[in-house]
Amino acid sequence: MKIVVTGGAGFIGANFILYWMEKHPEDTIVNFDALTYAGNLESIRAVEKKSTYSFVQGNICDVDAVSSVLKGVDTVVHFAAESHVDRSIHDPANFIKSNVLGTQVLLDQSVRLGVKRFHHISTDEVFGSLSLAENTRFSEDTRYDPHSPYSASKAGSDHLVRAYFHTFGLPVTITNCSNNYGPYQFPEKVIPLAITNALEDKKIPVYGDGLYVRDWLHVEDHCRAIESVLEKGTIGETYCVGGLTKDISNIEVVKKILHILGKNESLISFVADRPGHDRRYAVDWTKIQKNLGWSPRFDFDTWLADTVKWYKDNEAWWKHVKSGEYKEYYDRQYNPKT
Ligand code: NAD
Ligand code: TYD
Repeated sequence: MKIVVTGGAGFIGANFILYWMEKHPEDTIVNFDALTYAGNLESIRAVEKKSTYSFVQGNICDVDAVSSVLKGVDTVVHFAAESHVDRSIHDPANFIKSNVLGTQVLLDQSVRLGVKRFHHISTDEVFGSLSLAENTRFSEDTRYDPHSPYSASKAGSDHLVRAYFHTFGLPVTITNCSNNYGPYQFPEKVIPLAITNALEDKKIPVYGDGLYVRDWLHVEDHCRAIESVLEKGTIGETYCVGGLTKDISNIEVVKKILHILGKNESLISFVADRPGHDRRYAVDWTKIQKNLGWSPRFDFDTWLADTVKWYKDNEAWWKHVKSGEYKEYYDRQYNPKT
């Protein structure tokens, strides 16, 4: 099988390529990525010399580049996107371009070239926010109610994917997953940001009251879920994917990280809240469990500690990433002049 992975130089895409090539050595993988600030080929060094792997630098908004890379391809696994909520507040336009227009270009070319499966990676953030008071969870039947430019752009892309299934018969599947954590995550996201700041004895910014809740999914559990959907999923269907955490707040996550590293809680710094900050995410993964036999295996405490260890052991990876463009972003986000 020939698979094009879009966004394979990003956090989840890179983990997916490493996972898939190990489990399915007979398949050929083409990694199609624009190498934005979030793309890092160092994450996939382990496979770059394999004859079944190749990298093509290109933008999913570029019709010619997409049409050329999709020729003769069986499956597209579409990760490429602008993925950080805070950046979407600074610059929504980029999110609409990559996440909405880019997805539409990929869908058009997939129809034209007869791609046999288009799997779209989406987020639980399209469903909006849950309250702390209720024990509710997002499921495949939850109404879309995105609140940030990021989640609105991902919602737009989900609707397009379903429209191409209904209108053009493109064989699609979608997964809406919760917050991922694990190796190779860009340190703008809260877990690697907290780990790497703590390792450098820098303050860890916690937004608002720190009582916001995310549903943490280990990236390998996510890769296993995508594998289940590619192998056993029903065309046209959506599957919600979540982790093993039980309503853990951001402040608890940060304290766990400090505890693992033996660092003092005085590193915590409460900062101004994110505009439109969603209070709580939680995912009901009953459908994928019942229909495809998938359930998460990676418990949060063990694998958070493993993730912390990975960042400790791979300082060169994140030190490199934290220089350059990221420094400018960090100052704009956390030390604005006005
Ligand atoms: P990431 O930001 O780490 O990586 C995104 C990758 O896409 C980068 O390699 C970047 O270069 C590439 N890219 C961006 N725009 C592109 C374009 N126009 N053309 C080609 N390549 C482009 O993101 P991630 O965290 O790995 O997320 C991957 C996917 O999973 C995204 O679609 C995201 O919405 C979704 N998702 C992520 C999470 C999470 O917790 N990280 C949770 C739910 C869903
Ligand atoms: P993030 O990792 O940006 O993912 P998302 O916004 O997609 O859920 O943020 C996770 C949670 O952590 C979210 O509630 C916002 C919060 N957060 C902080 O408190 N401080 C930070 O510096 C960042 C980046 C996030």
